[in-house]
Formats: sequence, C-alpha cells, structure tokens
Amino acid sequence: MTTYSVAVIPGDGIGNEVVPEAQRVLEAVARSGGFSFDWTHYDWSCERFARTGAMMPADGLAQIRDKDAIFLGAVGFPGVPDHVSLWGLLIPIRRGFHQYVNLRPVKLLAGVESPLKGREPGSIDFYVVRENNEGEYSSIGGRLYDGLDDELVMQQSIFTRRGCDRVMRYAFELAKGRKKHVTSATKSNGISHTMPYWDERFAAISTEYPGFTTDQFHIDILTAHFVRNPDWFDVIVASNLFGDILSDLGPAVVGSIGIAPGGNINPEKEYPSMFEPVHGSAPDIAGKGVANPIGQIWSGAMMLRHLGEEAAAAAIESAIEEVLARRDSLTRDLGGKAGTRELTDAIIGALPSSLARAPAA
Ligand code: NAI
Ligand code: MG
Repeated sequence: MTTYSVAVIPGDGIGNEVVPEAQRVLEAVARSGGFSFDWTHYDWSCERFARTGAMMPADGLAQIRDKDAIFLGAVGFPGVPDHVSLWGLLIPIRRGFHQYVNLRPVKLLAGVESPLKGREPGSIDFYVVRENNEGEYSSIGGRLYDGLDDELVMQQSIFTRRGCDRVMRYAFELAKGRKKHVTSATKSNGISHTMPYWDERFAAISTEYPGFTTDQFHIDILTAHFVRNPDWFDVIVASNLFGDILSDLGPAVVGSIGIAPGGNINPEKEYPSMFEPVHGSAPDIAGKGVANPIGQIWSGAMMLRHLGEEAAAAAIESAIEEVLARRDSLTRDLGGKAGTRELTDAIIGALPSSLARAPAA
C-alpha cells in the first residue's frame, strides 16, 4: 500500500479548524482508495512567532524537504504584520521548493450563488496559472536618500527566460486535457521591457503547441472580461503580480472565498508542493466552528491529483459538488446554518464507497 508522507501546517485562526476536518475527508477517501497518509504536524504560525520570534525554525525547510506534499491552512493573525507572516513562512517555502506554479481552479458550481447575474453552473470553468517565484515580487531594490527631498525607492522586477517558459509550458500542458485554449495576461503597452518579453516568450512557447488557440489581453481589460465574459477562458497564465490579482478575482466571481482551493506546485516533483485554500485565517470567525471547510478539502483533492491519486481527487470533488447542490448542510457564508464539522460530515457521507465507481474528472 502506498503511504504519502505529508507535512501538515494548520497555521493560524480557522486554519486550525479546517485542516483537521479536511484530513478526515482525506483519510476517508484513502481507506476506499487503498492508500494511506503519514501526517507530521508543525506548529509554524504567528502564535509561534509571538512565542519564539520566528514563524518556523531556522532549519524548517530541511525538516519538510523529503515530504511528498505540504498541507497548509492559513497564516496571519492580528498583532503580527502580514509581511512578517508571509515572508517568514509562505514565500520561503514557495521559493525554496521551486513551487513556481500557483494554480487556482475557478468553477461555478450548482448551489453556490455567483455575484454575476444569469450564469449557469458549469458555464464558468477555468484555471489561473500564476508565476509564483519571480516577476514583480522580487526582493531586489532599495531606498536612497532616506528622509531627504531626493528620497527614491526602487523595486526590481525579474523575468527570466527559464521562469517564463516553464510556467507557460505548464499552462499549455494543463490546457491539453481541456479546451486547448490559453490566455496570457500582459501589459506590454505600459510596461515596455518585461511585458513585451513576456509576450515574446508566450508566442515562442505557443508554437510548441500546434492545435491550441491563444489569446492575450492587457491586465486592465482582462479584469473586466473576468466579470463580463468569464466563459471565454480555459487556462490563463500570468506573471506573479497579475496572477495574484486574477487568482482572487476568479474565485470571487464564482462565489464564496470559503470554497476556493489552491496549489503551489513544483511540477517536476523535485521538491514537495504545497496545497492551501485561497482564504486567510479569518480572525473574525476563528474559534467558532463555523468556517467553511470546502476550500481546504478541495485543496486536499488537488494534493491527491498531484500525488497521482486521480480517482480519489475526483471523488472528493464530486462529493463537494453534490453537497453544495443539495444545500442542506452549508455553512453561514453560503447561506446555511451548518457548522464546519457538519458540512465535513456531509461531504464524507457523499463519498462513493468504492473509488472504482467515482466518475473521472
Ligand atoms: P480572510 O480570507 O482570512 O477573510 C476574509 C473574509 O472572508 C472574512 O470575513 C472571513 O470571515 C471570511 N472567510 C474567509 N475564509 C472563510 C471560510 N473558510 N469560511 C467562512 N468565511 C470565511 O482574509 P483577511 O481577513 O484579509 O486576512 C486575515 C488574515 O489572514 C491576515 O493576517 C492575512 O494576512 C491572512 N491571509 C493569509 C493567507 C494565506 O495563508 N495564504 C491568504 C489571505 C490572508
Ligand atoms: Mg493573493
């Protein structure tokens, strides 16, 4: 029997509530799928920062280097500045483990109300592929003439051929099993060096994929199309900053932030990939047992797909869709009255008893 060794980092706030619930779903599906998990828990969080002065130990990355995957809740809590929690934990993991793809599915499911009028379930179904290691989020830069009239500040964007090509190829490979349509987010009118280069690499990589259709839009009009024409998209590839924006806007147009999943992926599997919901630690509802566990559970399904357990991943996704459509066990953010645990129980109850019967994705 295959055993997956997974690092579990619940983090802060509702991370501590939704992670154990998602683990119950993963355990349930593993039992019928004939595989198992070996979980190792890490208390890396803002609470740890308050206690020890660091989000994780100095050798943190080495401790989880050999895991098959990382399952993360959310980090961030009032009292610790957000850039400390982000740069002290998430960014070192994303960069240190070459998780250069941030992947977010965006799908309008039955039972979830979209803020967009007149959209049918299934009519919005795309992936945002965000470059996760370089681009606009580089730490190169600085400040000169601090506090003087001549004060100046610079932050350097970094676009490498390797970095562009690999994330674009990932997007095309993903589109292969779908509609074979890839959209590039650009801004080559206003940003005159890096973005024309991004366009050039997109054109070059496109030629490796005959039979695919492509589009590119400047990021400003692209955000408008996300709202007005979300049915145009299949796979969207974007730089770190543009992808960050699109990957929040995407889940927002299909409903609650509580259901949106995400993955930070090292496609070559040289390093562990990390799966986490889109939402944060939700301090406003933490400790009440009312958080929606679906974003975490769906992230668990993405983890299983990455590990090669396609049938188990698809079974969880179908169970989520069924429970959402039934609308009888939903949490408050989706207009229901159920708690975190009841919604999880409903999803476990909707899993097929044997995975062979699970529909393919
Ligand atoms: P948030 O996502 O934690 O909360 C935004 C709103 O959505 C809140 O009203 C919250 O109650 C609600 N919400 C979020 N997840 C929910 C769920 N599963 N079920 C029901 N309602 C849910 O974002 P916010 O408030 O901006 O950030 C709170 C903290 O989380 C900050 O410290 C921030 O830095 C951190 N954060 C961490 C992320 C991560 O770990 N990747 C991502 C986003 C924020
Ligand atoms: Mg974001």
